Amino acid sequence: MKYAARLERITPFRVMELMERAKLLEAAGHRVVHFEVGEPDFVTAAPIVAAGKRALDAGETKYTQALGIPALRGRIARYYAEHLGVDISEQRVVVTTGASGGLLLLSALLLNPAEELLMADPGYPCNEVFVSLVNGVAVRIPVTSNQDFQLVPGDVTDRWGAHTRGVLIASPANPTGTMLRRETLRDLIGVVKERDGFVILDEIYQGLVYDDSIDYRTGLELSDELFVLNSFSKYFGMTGWRLGWMVVPELALDGLSRLAQNLFISPSSIAQHAAIAAFDPAAMEVHEARRSAFANRRRQLQAGLESLGFHIPVTPSGAFYLYVDVSHTSLDSYDFCWRLIDEYQVATTPGIDFGDHDAGRYVRFAYTTDEKSIDLGLRRLGDALTAWGE
Ligand SMILES: Cc1ncc(COP(=O)(O)O)c(C=O)c1O
Repeated sequence: MKYAARLERITPFRVMELMERAKLLEAAGHRVVHFEVGEPDFVTAAPIVAAGKRALDAGETKYTQALGIPALRGRIARYYAEHLGVDISEQRVVVTTGASGGLLLLSALLLNPAEELLMADPGYPCNEVFVSLVNGVAVRIPVTSNQDFQLVPGDVTDRWGAHTRGVLIASPANPTGTMLRRETLRDLIGVVKERDGFVILDEIYQGLVYDDSIDYRTGLELSDELFVLNSFSKYFGMTGWRLGWMVVPELALDGLSRLAQNLFISPSSIAQHAAIAAFDPAAMEVHEARRSAFANRRRQLQAGLESLGFHIPVTPSGAFYLYVDVSHTSLDSYDFCWRLIDEYQVATTPGIDFGDHDAGRYVRFAYTTDEKSIDLGLRRLGDALTAWGE
């Protein structure tokens, strides 16, 4: 049996092997500290779970409209008006199977074979895969800490070629947690527009922002022509429900509707009915309390790592990650992660999972674990550095 050649370009996450090791260690009775997990440790807020149960009891178990139930699309549009300060029509809201479903839909909508999408390296690794599934080409542009690990307009003007169609940016980003400044985002949108291209803006960590100097809440404040991705996974704590949304230009709706009908039929009906409650004041209170817990953890972990001599070149504005330079340990980041899990039962994610650029230097620490565990992890890291001769 011969499988498709594209599989050769799809690499597994290295962190999966590390997580396997973590599970084995836990099965053998060890207490593992988890800094590798890219999802909130909190379970879904009770009002959302209750709404999901009610939907099940009411028999909301059928297919829905391909672009999502009107009640949820309307509720999301209201969220933008009430919390994010932009007016968008509910027609422009497309409910998806997580942001992942949105990324697949947008790749199919926007790219012909051999057409290029520019994106940052390091970045969210699955983006390349969505592009390659439609036989497009992901062009990964190395970004440095000097530019907050984000694309800048010069990257786009330098790399834009005859086959380039658009740019994918994430703010806040995974793995770095950094955000684009408002002016940089505006200029990026400008250079892409001059080239008749499209901008996909991944705002899946929107809501999880801790930096008062960021003076916009969504890129939709700057342009109506963006394809904005969002999700119930992170701020709303619903990773397992597999639900997200996009805000798109009106002209894209017909194509997206045909693609969504054919690829997915509809997003999960139960998850959609539950998600309406995600915006209720009782649920928003829970999300906000969690956001401040994340903000505290970020401070704790960053201060702890820096006092151990780790360099964090950019203090992230959002998400729940720190992208940490481990080069002073003289270990490559991949070896660093393996020794840390094997010898000290602390799990982290090596930079190699997010691209090639400087990947051997960086490790992603996710603060998706409680303050006691962060303390324990920091103590173990201190022991590791002592033992490894730092
Ligand atoms: C930047 C980014 N985009 C998209 C996703 C996909 O998330 P989901 O499909 O759960 O909405 C993730 C998940 O970690 C992510 O980090």
